Amino acid sequence: MSDEHARRVQRRERIAARRRRAVATIAASFAACVMVVAGGVMAAGWVDGSAASETSETTAVIPSLTTIVEESIEGIQASAPDSMPEPEDDAEPFCTPAVRDAIATGDAEAVVVAAGGGEAFRSGVVDGRASDCISLEHPAWAWVVVNKQRPVEPIDYEPNSLVEPETFSPVGGHLTPAAATALDELASAAREAGVGEIALESGYRSHDMQVTTYDAQVGALGQADADLTSARPGYSEHQLGLAADVVACADGSCGTIYDVGATPQGSWVAENAWKHGWIVRYEEGTTDTTGYEPEPWHLRYVGQELARAYSEGGYATYEEFFGLSAAPSYE
Ligand code: DAL
Ligand code: ZN
Repeated sequence: MSDEHARRVQRRERIAARRRRAVATIAASFAACVMVVAGGVMAAGWVDGSAASETSETTAVIPSLTTIVEESIEGIQASAPDSMPEPEDDAEPFCTPAVRDAIATGDAEAVVVAAGGGEAFRSGVVDGRASDCISLEHPAWAWVVVNKQRPVEPIDYEPNSLVEPETFSPVGGHLTPAAATALDELASAAREAGVGEIALESGYRSHDMQVTTYDAQVGALGQADADLTSARPGYSEHQLGLAADVVACADGSCGTIYDVGATPQGSWVAENAWKHGWIVRYEEGTTDTTGYEPEPWHLRYVGQELARAYSEGGYATYEEFFGLSAAPSYE
């Protein structure tokens, strides 16, 4: 066997070992996560479905542990490790026992903190050191990346838990619990800064709701223009429960999403959303990367540590933040 061939064999074996370790880690972490969620649901009295029936948007289904673990494993096997670069052999380890313990709690913010903070997490993903224990594909983690090249996996995914934030929402919007808390903090901070009221125009949208939203845009604009402003079903961050379309309100009435960019609330959000775990996902001048026209109203919850690293690093797109390819179109 030539030296070059031997190196290739060793590299394949390392990648296969990393894939096996990633599968085992995520399986274990989601087992723990599901138990935490199931415990919370039982404690909240959801076992008889009474809370879930309070709203038509809350489709808080708790799938069996086996289903969640199997789907996680399939998703990782299908995509994650091969799409990440191989780390240098002497690089600082990322998937330390502390990180793995944090993963097992299901708390995304705790994972990022255990990794050393937002920038350490980002660089571990970008240089491949995180690939043993972190996937950017799984939709339940706050760091998940969804764009025109990276659909929600599975395509009909529903978050396990959705809640109504305290922030006013004319449509009764829902978000994941962490995103809802973060939106409430953002809206309170805006109020305390004297900027005014912020409301949630649209939060979680199921796959089926996105069919309606997208079809309406296609009907109004034609498909090419609709694709610049609305995600196709299965490609929207709203399906994650991690996206919030915000509007500005005054004197008891709220403007539209199209107005918010020109309001004091819109300017404040652009400057300060990161302090509360949010990024403005579709900024001016980023259509070539995101495939969408600017949307100053569409905030994406990524958690405080990652939002801080995003802001301090001066990133304009989430794709650039994680060193991913541009996703201007579906093809
Ligand atoms: N408007 C954004 C792109 C969405 O539909 O998710
Ligand atoms: Zn949106």
